Amino acid sequence: MTPSLQMEKSRIALPIGVTLDRFIKSKQTEYPSAAGEFSQLLRDLALASKVVNREINKAGLVDIMGNIGQQNSGGDEQQKLDVLANIRFTRALSKGGEVAGIVSEETENFIDLKNKGKYIVAIDPLDGSSNIDVNVSIGTIFSIFKRKSKAGKPLSKKDFLQKGDCQIAAGYILYGPSTMMVYTTGNGVNGFTYETTLGEYVLSHPDMKCKTTGTIYSMNEGLTSHIINKGVTDYIALCKFRNYSGRYIGSLVADFHRNLLKGGIFLYPSCKKYPKGKLRLLFEANALAFIVEQAGGEASDGSKPILRIQPTQLHETTALFIGSKNMMKDLQKCINKN
Ligand code: AHG
Ligand code: MN
Ligand code: MN
Repeated sequence: MTPSLQMEKSRIALPIGVTLDRFIKSKQTEYPSAAGEFSQLLRDLALASKVVNREINKAGLVDIMGNIGQQNSGGDEQQKLDVLANIRFTRALSKGGEVAGIVSEETENFIDLKNKGKYIVAIDPLDGSSNIDVNVSIGTIFSIFKRKSKAGKPLSKKDFLQKGDCQIAAGYILYGPSTMMVYTTGNGVNGFTYETTLGEYVLSHPDMKCKTTGTIYSMNEGLTSHIINKGVTDYIALCKFRNYSGRYIGSLVADFHRNLLKGGIFLYPSCKKYPKGKLRLLFEANALAFIVEQAGGEASDGSKPILRIQPTQLHETTALFIGSKNMMKDLQKCINKN
């Protein structure tokens, strides 16, 4: 077969343009035990994200910007849109009956929906909230687990404190120049772009892969002199020596998405201000670690893979290094030398 014919064939084989609904339905047969409930859960998340997308697009015109003068359990200033997004996602997930419990970055405790649902959702309803007021990309991050307790019994923290390895699906929504939903169910990563006139997510990035090597490093360089792990400081020096490009938006979803597409590494190390890292294991690190591994990349806290960390608290934070495989290997070499 000629190369152009081969290319044409593989292009036709890719269902670019298929709607998220249809894509989910076509995958349903791969998980016979999941019946339709899991598919419905993904649809619920997609629907809530469309509502949040609409709210975000109105920001600036109506009074939904700025903070509400309160902090969440992580000590961050809560923005109006943080609270709004939390309400939208919680409402969408509560109604369906598939989800037994929700834990959100914006609430201190988990919510037991007291139903027979099979699934647990951990969510960062709005990620990058410091960027809301300045019209810069923000996101939503979610992890889906199976409940551990028996259906019908009250949920306990054990249902929520599961290792990242136990995720059955994870994803994010990026509210950027275009809105995208990217997710994995452990069988590769697929990205869907929101077609506003149709009101539908459409497959635009099938089987996403993270390049093994990239030339982008992303971190808040203001923290450089306060990094606790000398190996990380050495690695940043190496990035500079190699003339890598520094790219940092300050919205994890957006930084991660760019590096996933282009190849790169994102670093949020432990530092004096955040001795145990800033990013949350349950709401941020786990989901992106699952996605990056499915795309051929890696994620660690500097000593072990993120997906192997046993969480002990709902809002626990972790150092996070995530991205292209070879860059992660170079970072690890620097860490091991110290
Ligand atoms: P959130 O808005 O959900 O609290 O998350 C903010 C996070 C993350 O999106 C980003 O990578 C990081 O905070 C930025 O932190 P710095 O401002 O310290 O760079
Ligand atoms: Mn976040
Ligand atoms: Mn958030």
